[in-house]
Amino acid sequence: MNITVVGTGYVGLVGGVCMASMGHQVTCVDIDEAKVETLRQGKTPIYEPELQALLEQTLASGSIVFTTSLEEAVVAAEVVFLALPTPPGENGEADLSYVLQVAEQLSPLVDHYMVIVDKSTVPVGTAQRVREKIAAQATAEFAVVSNPEFLREGHAVHDFMHPDRVVLGTDSEKARQVLRELYAPIATADSIIEMDEASAELAKYAANSFLATKVSFMNEIANLCDLLGANVDAVRLGIGSDERIGRHFLQAGIGYGGSCFPKDVQALVQAASNVGYDFKILQSLIAVNTEQKLRLVEQATDHFGALEGKHIAVWGLAFKPDTDDIREAPALTTIRHLLDAGATVTAYDPEAISNTQQYFSDQPGLTFATDPYDALSAADALFIITEWKVFKQADLVQLKQRLAQPVIFDGRNIFDPRHMWEQGFTYYSIGRPLKGPVAA
Ligand SMILES: NC(=O)c1ccc[n+]([C@@H]2O[C@H](COP(=O)([O-])OP(=O)(O)OC[C@H]3O[C@@H](n4cnc5c(N)ncnc54)[C@H](O)[C@@H]3O)[C@@H](O)[C@H]2O)c1
Repeated sequence: MNITVVGTGYVGLVGGVCMASMGHQVTCVDIDEAKVETLRQGKTPIYEPELQALLEQTLASGSIVFTTSLEEAVVAAEVVFLALPTPPGENGEADLSYVLQVAEQLSPLVDHYMVIVDKSTVPVGTAQRVREKIAAQATAEFAVVSNPEFLREGHAVHDFMHPDRVVLGTDSEKARQVLRELYAPIATADSIIEMDEASAELAKYAANSFLATKVSFMNEIANLCDLLGANVDAVRLGIGSDERIGRHFLQAGIGYGGSCFPKDVQALVQAASNVGYDFKILQSLIAVNTEQKLRLVEQATDHFGALEGKHIAVWGLAFKPDTDDIREAPALTTIRHLLDAGATVTAYDPEAISNTQQYFSDQPGLTFATDPYDALSAADALFIITEWKVFKQADLVQLKQRLAQPVIFDGRNIFDPRHMWEQGFTYYSIGRPLKGPVAA
């Protein structure tokens, strides 16, 4: 099948490369010339496990090409995916300008039957707005389908190739047939869920908001554990075994980040407000998550009295492991607060240093290390912000030797508190109150 993907970011590039590897002929189009050139040379501009190898393979077989020309890209397209940004606009509402602008540009190019697919996360009513834009100058029949993407960064290739569900929102049986055929190599009849377009659009926001709620709920339980002397890991096991609750997304930490949860929760609050509905749970969620991001800074301030003049090592910048994405990452807020409080910071991340350097530009007091242990030199404490595997497997002896003071603030609960104390660390984590010697 001839497929065009507009926007080659996390979703578009992964989707394009995966569909090419499934046997489709894919043209990816992006306005970013440098990105297109990098991709043509066989290099992925983002870090995502498995992506580089799959890109090389599909480029070599000729099943994927990259261009900056939308016009060229859709000449033979049967399906056009819109994988464009929908960042927060004013009031947190989803900014649809990228999607609607491309719909306008597509309009005169629709001269044969095309299925146009909204892959971007967009509020209810967007498919209709895209349809109206395209209809303005289209000279052939077309359909617009809402097909939200549920992949997780860090597992994006795996998730795209093994979806637990493919949601198709459309009333057009003809378009459904086309997409069933497109997804046939990776989705079974059971995993394709067909519905009207408004429900498909809302399903994506509901999924992300529900997951963010689970995370924040557990973070509040963890904060309560700290005050009551309970252990959030035990509580998690105690509730996660209940099938109605489920084991996933119950890990306490310093809050969610990334390009999706924060913006999607905000956008749903605003979409609700636009129709006169006050979405109270989600409003609280935003407040809870904003506070949670500061947990380690609070713990360190309590521990040291003040942070002025302290030197802090930070492990982890990406919003989660196995990605270089730092959008809305808790590390950014944490570092900003440390610097504002007069501390200096040396940070390390396996993949996200370059993005973070660009974000902070030349910020006085902030340096980066090329090795996790080099980041520790002369540090008064270590903050752990992203649970990369390399940190979980850290050499604790070296860790202790390199730190000026053996103090750790672990925002992802990657170590066992008792073990850390036995190794001579003062170890703070989230919702696990053991910080030092326990009475025998
Ligand atoms: N990142 C995720 O994990 C994820 C998961 C599910 C859904 N989503 C949703 O998918 C959408 C895309 O997200 P992303 O993370 O891939 O975004 P991204 O910012 O990584 O990529 C968007 C790409 O679109 C390109 N672009 C912008 N305007 C363009 C235009 N006019 N023509 C062609 N290309 C253009 C940009 O240059 C960029 O390469 C968003 O709505 C997001 O909410 C993201």
